Amino acid sequence: MKFTNYQLPITNYQLPRKKPMTSELYTENFPHMSPVWGRIFNFVAERAEGSYIYTDDGRKLLDFTCGIGVTNTGHCHPKVVEAIREQAGLFLHAQANLVIHKPMLGLIEQLRMVMPESIDGFFFSNSGAEALEGAVKLARVATGRQNIIVFSGSFHGRTQGTMALTTSKTIYRAGFGPLPSGVFVAPFPYAFRLGMTEEQASAYALNELEYLLASQTAPKETAAILIESVMGEGGYIVPPTSFMKGLREICDKHGILLIFDEVQSGFGRTGKWMAFEHFGVVPDIITAAKGMASGMPLSGVFSSLDLMKKWDVGSHGGTYGGNAVACASGVATIKAIREEKMLENANERGLQLMTGLHKLQEEYPQIGDVRGKGLMIGTEFIVDGKHPEKAKPLVKEIVHAAEERNLLLLSCGTYDNTIRWIPPLNVTSQQISDGLKAFEGALKATIK
Ligand SMILES: Cc1ncc(COP(=O)(O)O)c(C=O)c1O
Repeated sequence: MKFTNYQLPITNYQLPRKKPMTSELYTENFPHMSPVWGRIFNFVAERAEGSYIYTDDGRKLLDFTCGIGVTNTGHCHPKVVEAIREQAGLFLHAQANLVIHKPMLGLIEQLRMVMPESIDGFFFSNSGAEALEGAVKLARVATGRQNIIVFSGSFHGRTQGTMALTTSKTIYRAGFGPLPSGVFVAPFPYAFRLGMTEEQASAYALNELEYLLASQTAPKETAAILIESVMGEGGYIVPPTSFMKGLREICDKHGILLIFDEVQSGFGRTGKWMAFEHFGVVPDIITAAKGMASGMPLSGVFSSLDLMKKWDVGSHGGTYGGNAVACASGVATIKAIREEKMLENANERGLQLMTGLHKLQEEYPQIGDVRGKGLMIGTEFIVDGKHPEKAKPLVKEIVHAAEERNLLLLSCGTYDNTIRWIPPLNVTSQQISDGLKAFEGALKATIK
């Protein structure tokens, strides 16, 4: 069966193509891609470089999605590409149980420069969800306790185990039950949604957490408290410092492990190597992925070596974890971020972006909140001054209007009413201005 561009089965949005989609490769095969991948855009990428994606019909798109926070060093950073090429010519796969390889040793060396001193044990896997699975296994086996506390709105993956940890949207769970047990959900200090100040939200959420520990999961049965250092999929929400410090205190008091999920917020995204550095709180276990290797599949569970020793040898692992080419990409990524001062740039460009968005907020009351750190910024939309749950269609239109202006943006939040801004860490001042201009154009076109 052949589909034309106007009969695509899985989206009602048609991309503004410069020429019709005629390639046989596309018309023959695209309809066979599993529709479980909901589509936001419909362009076909030819190549990508820095902040731009170039399409097969000649468009140049400013990519402020970074493939959902992955290409932090920009698309195809020359140093990263070179490291991948070099390693690919030496060997592609060296299974970690069988072969010790230099790219993994090099990556551990780089990570030890970036991590707090207490985090000196490193395990590698392939995806964010896989890292979360590992972190939960480690916490359970190390404490001999079963339960995990997560926070409402969190996103930790879509595997059988991580579905139970994820509460950002019901779509990630509905129909897949029964979910694994032993997961308890506490409120996240989401100040804007709660209509509270940050400090009020922090006190409220800590209080509710204590209540959960008194009413549902006893501390002696609680292995870990797991939280995204900055909430990603659930709406780009920075938790208050007092809340993160409170979590550390509760964990220390009860011998509960504290896990920070840095899959989206790590590797310079918030203007620091790891987002938890903003709070002056060090976790027991860190999960990382996405930005760590600029697009090669690589994730990790990091903790003290003492904690890692509690894992029985062979009780966790995988065929591909710590793949040599992915590790080489990770080494080059961390070096490029350091050598090219991308953290500094993330802070400066983040400020520029935040200032521009605040200005637009004054003009458009539909932008209810602008928040974030570094280049992890969210603009939450509301309808009639108080309805986040009605803003999804508006945000969808804005995202498409932005694409028509050659700017790629992505939404997030339980109601999909927040636009997340995730440009590369080496984005230029001009590109931020261009992005803001395109966004303003999209707002003008959408909000009459
Ligand atoms: C904070 C966080 N944790 C875990 C995951 C899951 O990662 P993956 O999609 O690589 O399985 C994501 C993905 O977006 C994430 O943002």
